[in-house]
Amino acid sequence: MDFQQIFGTSPEAEASAPGRVNLLGEHTDYNDGFVLPTAIPQQTTVQLGLSWDGQHHFYSVALDERVTISEGHHTPSGFASYIFGCVRLLERQGYTIPPVNLHVTSSVPIGSGLSSSAALEVATLRGLRSLLNLDIDDVEIAQLAQQAESQYAGVQCGIMDQMASSLADTEHMLFLDTRSLQVRVMPFPAGAEVLAIDSGVPRTLAESGYNQRRSECEQAAHLLGVRALRDITDPQAVAELPEPLRRRARHVITEDNRVLEVLQGVSTERFGELMNASHASLRDDYEVSLSALDILVAMLQATPGVWGARLTGAGFGGACVALVVAGKVEAIAQDVLERYKRSGYAGRILVPQIE
Ligand code: GLA
Repeated sequence: MDFQQIFGTSPEAEASAPGRVNLLGEHTDYNDGFVLPTAIPQQTTVQLGLSWDGQHHFYSVALDERVTISEGHHTPSGFASYIFGCVRLLERQGYTIPPVNLHVTSSVPIGSGLSSSAALEVATLRGLRSLLNLDIDDVEIAQLAQQAESQYAGVQCGIMDQMASSLADTEHMLFLDTRSLQVRVMPFPAGAEVLAIDSGVPRTLAESGYNQRRSECEQAAHLLGVRALRDITDPQAVAELPEPLRRRARHVITEDNRVLEVLQGVSTERFGELMNASHASLRDDYEVSLSALDILVAMLQATPGVWGARLTGAGFGGACVALVVAGKVEAIAQDVLERYKRSGYAGRILVPQIE
């Protein structure tokens, strides 16, 4: 049902924001490190208007769910928590946010690790900026979106997803230093296209595993006497750490180095090698892969026309990303998915977006 059917009026503002796929730099953002995501074609769109009954009304088309929030209402659950968090954070910044009607549609797959939540937060904040003429820039939107996620949706994430959704486009990679928030827009490796495939395995342990990895990194940084693992560049520096902190820290340090190597300019072939090395490090040192992801990644890596492949996002299920010879992406994806199916799994293509 559209805005008019739900709220009985026409929307006064509209905004969209994309999901993201990360090409390199995984589990580095909460270590103040470096990441290299790109936006995906799938977007979340919000339409908004003022509400005249003193209450916020949020409606999700995908869930066909309407949530009403009155004055003094506690934090809602589900999709409304992200929107509510954005409203509250703007209020805490000193903005007056009147009651709104907000209608959400999205083509970003949920639960595949492509940041549907960041897309919802960034679209909501953009929509409120446009409806109310708020003076906030895209970096501030990303920062508010990340705070909404951690304070209202309860996920202790880094800032990569929200920065990617707010600043990246689908034609470039976005290099981001997550400490300084300095960005650099970079072209894709020559002759290559991005392929993302959902492994079909839901990210069940993602939250507990994620928080555990985060705290292991903090412990490692503390033992090494640095503010964050980003401050170490030599993987040898972790040699004396107890396990599993040694391997966790080694992943973060080598992963940061891989992203920085790309920043210096590398061939497409080298970029692919760095993606493959990233997967091995996520699998062996960081231990956030699963056998389904390993099988899918190995199939991709062994396929002619694929420069490199790795799991993408937090891991524990979700999606893989590959760098593929331009023009062959669909044929390669279908071939790999067919073989993946014979191993007993059901995957699907996420990027490019196939209607
Ligand atoms: C999730 C988080 C991000 C980042 C990745 C892992 O997507 O939301 O902040 O930590 O995992 O790189």
